[in-house]
Amino acid sequence: MIVLGIETSCDETGIALYDSERGLLADALYSQIDMHREYGGVVPELASRDHVQRVLPLVKQVMSEAGIERSGIDAVAYTRGPGLIGALLVGTAIARSVGFVLGVPVLGVHHMEGHLLAPLLEEEPPEFPFLALLVSGGHTQLVDVAALGSYTLLGESIDDAAGEAFDKAAAMLGLDYPGGPNIARLAQQGREGIYKFPRPMTDRPGLDFSFSGLKTFTLNTVAAADADGGITEQDKADIARAFEEAAVDTLAIKCRRALRQTGRKRLVIAGGVSANQRLRQKLDEVVTKEGASLFYARPEFCTDNGAMIAFAGCRRLQAGQRDEEGMNPMPRWPLEDLKPVEL
Ligand SMILES: Nc1ncnc2c1ncn2[C@@H]1O[C@H](COP(=O)(O)OP(=O)(O)OP(=O)(O)O)[C@@H](O)[C@H]1O
Ligand SMILES: [Mg+2]
Repeated sequence: MIVLGIETSCDETGIALYDSERGLLADALYSQIDMHREYGGVVPELASRDHVQRVLPLVKQVMSEAGIERSGIDAVAYTRGPGLIGALLVGTAIARSVGFVLGVPVLGVHHMEGHLLAPLLEEEPPEFPFLALLVSGGHTQLVDVAALGSYTLLGESIDDAAGEAFDKAAAMLGLDYPGGPNIARLAQQGREGIYKFPRPMTDRPGLDFSFSGLKTFTLNTVAAADADGGITEQDKADIARAFEEAAVDTLAIKCRRALRQTGRKRLVIAGGVSANQRLRQKLDEVVTKEGASLFYARPEFCTDNGAMIAFAGCRRLQAGQRDEEGMNPMPRWPLEDLKPVEL
């Protein structure tokens, strides 16, 4: 089955063709980051309008790269939610129109299930069951994955998402959006142990996270360095390093706790922050000590992309799932509400 995947939940238009037999055939991405940068964040109306312009040219591009004609597309999968309503509506409308014209089934996919399954596109994919850490711009969640589509939320952030904390800390240091990769780059010049940041909520039981304290701590540290004769580039690098270490440690402590609690032997990390090298290294150490294994996607499939939507859609379409009459986009959509996939 060849599935066309359409991702338009936020500020990236991602399109891909996935073949259940041959794997990923082609994928293309257009990021709106440059357009939103001058506003310091995503402007929903601009995002929707831009998706309208990008989807079809990217669909043509992946079809030509994959050497697939219209008649070769067996189904269409698109992001139904969660995300920005206007952006989701664009993907939904186009996916339904394409499905109607081609006479093929259409299915709306959960964006976070897409992220969660993206590591399954890699050469040595994890088997079910596993524990998943979803760390993106909008989510920080620990999820027990018993099987495809069977998700139990074990813990989540009670305030900012991990990626959001990276983005806000970056802005405090004068770095561009998205801040995660820029903090990581600057942290490489940072010295160890110059600043000691807190590890929020790690001294309490439970698997929830909080990142807003870390954000305030960063703001105060920057202000103190600035008051103390003006902040230098070295100060900024030292702060970036201390912030990154604290964020990574916090995530790692909760992952270790969740592995012990569930007894799972596989840890999957997904979402933009899972591209972070320090996080990958730290979690590698944790899983090795726990006798478990770590799985993640290639960096370009950690952030939003069409491949993960085509893939997740394909698994569900193969199991016979289809959009039903009158289905709407879901700007809010708990992962636990998903239907399990029965093969
Ligand atoms: N190397 C990195 N280190 C830390 N954070 C990173 C890195 N690369 C990307 N990020 C962060 O990942 C986030 C973007 O990830 P992603 O595209 O998965 O999120 P999103 O789609 O905006 O949110 P959601 O999927 O929750 O709706 C940004 O906050 C960005 O700063
Ligand atoms: Mg995302």
